[in-house]
Amino acid sequence: MSSIMVINAKGGSGKTTISTNLAAYYATKDFNVTLVDLDPQASSLNWLTSRPITKPKIKGLSSLPSQKVSTNKNDITIFDVPAAIYGARLETYIKKARKIIIPVLPSPIDMSAARDFLKSIRKLGSVVRNRTDICLVANRCRANTNIFEELDDYLVKEKGIRYVTAFRDNTNYINSAKKGIGIFEMGQSMTAQDREEWKPLISWLNSKKK
Ligand SMILES: Nc1ncnc2c1ncn2[C@@H]1O[C@H](COP(=O)(O)OP(=O)(O)O)[C@@H](O)[C@H]1O
Ligand SMILES: [Mg+2]
Repeated sequence: MSSIMVINAKGGSGKTTISTNLAAYYATKDFNVTLVDLDPQASSLNWLTSRPITKPKIKGLSSLPSQKVSTNKNDITIFDVPAAIYGARLETYIKKARKIIIPVLPSPIDMSAARDFLKSIRKLGSVVRNRTDICLVANRCRANTNIFEELDDYLVKEKGIRYVTAFRDNTNYINSAKKGIGIFEMGQSMTAQDREEWKPLISWLNSKKK
């Protein structure tokens, strides 16, 4: 296990929500978690300052670690990346990650931004592309809405990039964020559906690149 990056061209797509929930998830599984918040808005680091001291510890950083990515099985680094990063900077960031998660909201503007962002990722050298594994996650979805079905159709069609899961639009994310915890640290029954929706993402993260 090594490094996970949450990245997208658009703000508000759930990068911080996914980064902090992953950090909390791995912390509860006894990993040494480092949460690197590269966004000047520092939402992930703010979340960390609200984290109760009774919860498993997560280390916070505000810039790229200079050292090589750790190969220790018990260390995990999660990068929360600001929106609209392209070109050389995108390449520098992506090189730090083994697994990349791209959250997309069910909205025409977000879908079009995701399309452009994936184009810029595909333009990166094959070396970068071949060593990193990229997936798409639909976020803030409401079942049985036309726009969610459109997003679902679009995500399935993105070639070579796995569409792993869809998270519902739910106040559990908002309530847990306020408290500096993740949905995996809330009550089981209240978060049962969310936990189910996270399962495919966790197994994708634990899988080896084919
Ligand atoms: N699945 C969800 N259900 C409900 N609210 C969500 C969900 N995902 C994100 N949010 C809320 O949407 C807003 C933007 O999400 P955030 O993770 O901060 O996006 P980003 O980091 O990409 O800008 C936040 O207020 C967050 O709490
Ligand atoms: Mg953010």
